[in-house]
Amino acid sequence: MGCAPQHEGRWRMPRPNSRRLRCHMQITGVRECGAAVQESLILRRPAGASKDEAGVRHQAQQAQSLPASRQERTLLSLVARLQWATMITNTNKSRFENDYEMAQKYRLPEEFVTDRFLVKRIIPSDAQAIFDGWNSDPEVTKYLTWKPHAELRQTLEAAERSHCEWEAGTSFPAVICLRHQPSELVGRVDARPAGHKVSYGWLIRRDRWGDGIASEVIRWAVDHALSHPLIFRTEASCDVMNGASARVMEKAGMTKEAFLQRYLLHPNISDVPRDAFLYSKVR
Ligand SMILES: CC(C)(COP(=O)(O)OP(=O)(O)OC[C@H]1O[C@@H](n2cnc3c(N)ncnc32)[C@H](O)[C@@H]1OP(=O)(O)O)[C@@H](O)C(=O)NCCC(=O)NCCS
Repeated sequence: MGCAPQHEGRWRMPRPNSRRLRCHMQITGVRECGAAVQESLILRRPAGASKDEAGVRHQAQQAQSLPASRQERTLLSLVARLQWATMITNTNKSRFENDYEMAQKYRLPEEFVTDRFLVKRIIPSDAQAIFDGWNSDPEVTKYLTWKPHAELRQTLEAAERSHCEWEAGTSFPAVICLRHQPSELVGRVDARPAGHKVSYGWLIRRDRWGDGIASEVIRWAVDHALSHPLIFRTEASCDVMNGASARVMEKAGMTKEAFLQRYLLHPNISDVPRDAFLYSKVR
């Protein structure tokens, strides 16, 4: 019968005017068909099925006591409603599946600790410390893709963008703080997931260079990403002249994979794209 459950919980509903349903009614009798509609509703009813489905089931019960011609009309209209209810249920299901997929996607934790550092999501009130610490420093920004900030307002706007990116899950910009003095911001790390990959960016406040901060934090972030079931590759790139950054990647367990010509635009040293090294760690 057209209303019968299909394998693996999938259902194929007859069209209200389908020849198959009419044939079935002629062969088995309208009463039996009503029972089948009811049965299918009972069997397929998922937890939290719409009120409409419950209403259809009730009417299918009622229809069995009607004269045959009215039973047929009623059943046909019920099947139409049932199809609609099925469509709604399927829509809800796909919404649920989307939520599930979202929950499965890789995210950097809002806060995590390494041996010496607390790393936490950037919030707008960090703007002043970020501006003073590195955003306005031409040495720190030398090999970065943006120019140093001249005004606090630029850093504040960037912090607000960071907030939106985190919400959207497109990028996870976080500040690195001293673990035992969390008000002291010493650097920044950005994790950017895309499908089965995560790429990274980082910087450290100039007076803290050479303390092993970047290596410690990037190693943690890379290992965390590769422990996620959907992530198979982590990667980062740096200007060919940025020896410290290349060393950070090695210390974080990545290996040099490629020399990429004209790959990065570093506006603080050149107006044209520059060559870069690509590093990765995969599982
Ligand atoms: C790159 C940067 C993040 C490194 O941070 P850090 O916390 O000082 O890095 P670590 O102390 O963990 O490691 C640095 C390593 O690079 C080495 N290093 C430093 N300068 C170097 C250079 N010019 N060439 C080669 N290696 C260098 C250090 O000796 C150290 O290695 P070691 O521990 O084996 O001696 C920091 O220099 C920085 O903020 N630079 C400006 C921003 C930037 O370039 N970000 C990266 C963009 S891709």
